[in-house]
Amino acid sequence: MNQRVLVASNRGPVSYQFGADGSLIPSRGGGGMIAGVTDGLAALGPEASATWICAALSDADRAVARAEETGPGDGGLREGIPVRMLDIAPDIFDRAYNRVANSALWFLLHQLFDTPSQPRFGREFRRDWEAYLAYNEAFADALIEEALMREAAAGEGGLRVLIQDYHLCLAPRMFRDRLSDRLGSQLGEAGPAAGIGHFCHTPWAPPDYYRMLPDEVGRALLDGILGADRAGFHAERWASAFLDCCAAVLGADVSRTGLAGPGPGPVGRVTYRGHVTEVAVHPLGVDAAALRERARAGDVRAHAGALRRAAGDRKLIVRVDRTELSKNIVRGLAAYHELLATRPQWRGRVVHLAFAYPSRSALAEYRAYTDQVRELAREITEEFRTADWDPLILEVKDDYPRSLAACALADVLLVNPIRDGMNLVAQEGPVLSERGCALVLSREAGAAATLAADALLVNPYDVTETADALHRALEMPDAERRRRGAALAATAAADPPARWLGGQLAELGP
Ligand code: G6P
Repeated sequence: MNQRVLVASNRGPVSYQFGADGSLIPSRGGGGMIAGVTDGLAALGPEASATWICAALSDADRAVARAEETGPGDGGLREGIPVRMLDIAPDIFDRAYNRVANSALWFLLHQLFDTPSQPRFGREFRRDWEAYLAYNEAFADALIEEALMREAAAGEGGLRVLIQDYHLCLAPRMFRDRLSDRLGSQLGEAGPAAGIGHFCHTPWAPPDYYRMLPDEVGRALLDGILGADRAGFHAERWASAFLDCCAAVLGADVSRTGLAGPGPGPVGRVTYRGHVTEVAVHPLGVDAAALRERARAGDVRAHAGALRRAAGDRKLIVRVDRTELSKNIVRGLAAYHELLATRPQWRGRVVHLAFAYPSRSALAEYRAYTDQVRELAREITEEFRTADWDPLILEVKDDYPRSLAACALADVLLVNPIRDGMNLVAQEGPVLSERGCALVLSREAGAAATLAADALLVNPYDVTETADALHRALEMPDAERRRRGAALAATAAADPPARWLGGQLAELGP
């Protein structure tokens, strides 16, 4: 049967910038959500017809969105997927994305607030919240248009709607309400079936922390997600915190099934306002074969050669992150500093490749954090550099093939987030590693639930423990490193995007 799938997310698979001559230069979006959805949709095959609704993020995106509304274009195909970009008014978009999603919700869900001074939910935030409502409404309206258009066109096959992330917490409820108004029937009973899923790629915060939000906002976000039939998370911890919030903040009826292993599987169920939402875990891993194939390409090999020449035959500690506050890059550098300071035997024998790519530079906190990263990197270099040894190579310009090359060469991979929904680098690294790498992994990453047995787990706040783990990883015997690396790679390969997305679609109906 024809599978009809609608995806909604803030960022789409491709975003554009204007070149110097006014031409449109596309670039593939970063982050785990894009990787999972793009590869998951690609794996659905010709039986599926999917459309991806996303926001126009830049002026160039807006130009593309407007051109497609008014005239025939390329059918909106990006990365082989039909994409519809929403031209949401810039002020609404800015408030919803930068102020609510990135400055309030991201900090809340990762528990990142500097609480003596932040957050401050005053009048300005209430205006921002109105924008978040309007932004979610724009998505719900577009989903309705697509749903009704497809209903008329395709005739058969249940519609499945997959709404992504904290930007779009309200959209599931809005879409459900609008669809039942339009069709004059309740979803899932009479009328055309539309299964609605929401997936949160971030952690979820426990009730004590979550309650920092203004009451009406905290309630609206939970109520919004509970408009979905399924709410998904990467790890049981986050799913369970969500259930706790539903019980504590909404007083919803929550029952728990618990997860037998590291997932996927159901964790519980929330009944609220007469509707049942199943809450489940779907860990996202990697498509190992495709990743290894990509790493064999000439551009990756060329970078590998250049990195090897720069590092010589020294051991390599690698990290690859977007410069997000949750990634804990500063403490990672502090741990490397402590390693060199307390274990002089590694001086001259190790190089740290730290790739910290730009992210959310519209936010002052992110700009300040990027400065801290650069400053600490400079201090390490100045303190330890010798005539023939550079202890640290910090790269801040995003370069995907170079990142793959670094992972292929890594002896040690450092992934130490303060908190992370899943983390794909911790899984890509072992898959790409040529000699098997040791993984120093934060216990606060969702990926720790599946990778714990073969990684060296650390408390991300404990710099000394992280330095010790780097030392243990560097001196790990070759055979043990290869064995652990192979086990990590096998675990990462067990939940490829096809399974992650396919599992969610299967739960939403035939
Ligand atoms: C990370 C998270 C995703 C989220 C993305 C947003 O990658 O894992 O869940 O969608 O950040 O990043 P952006 O650059 O679009 O703000």
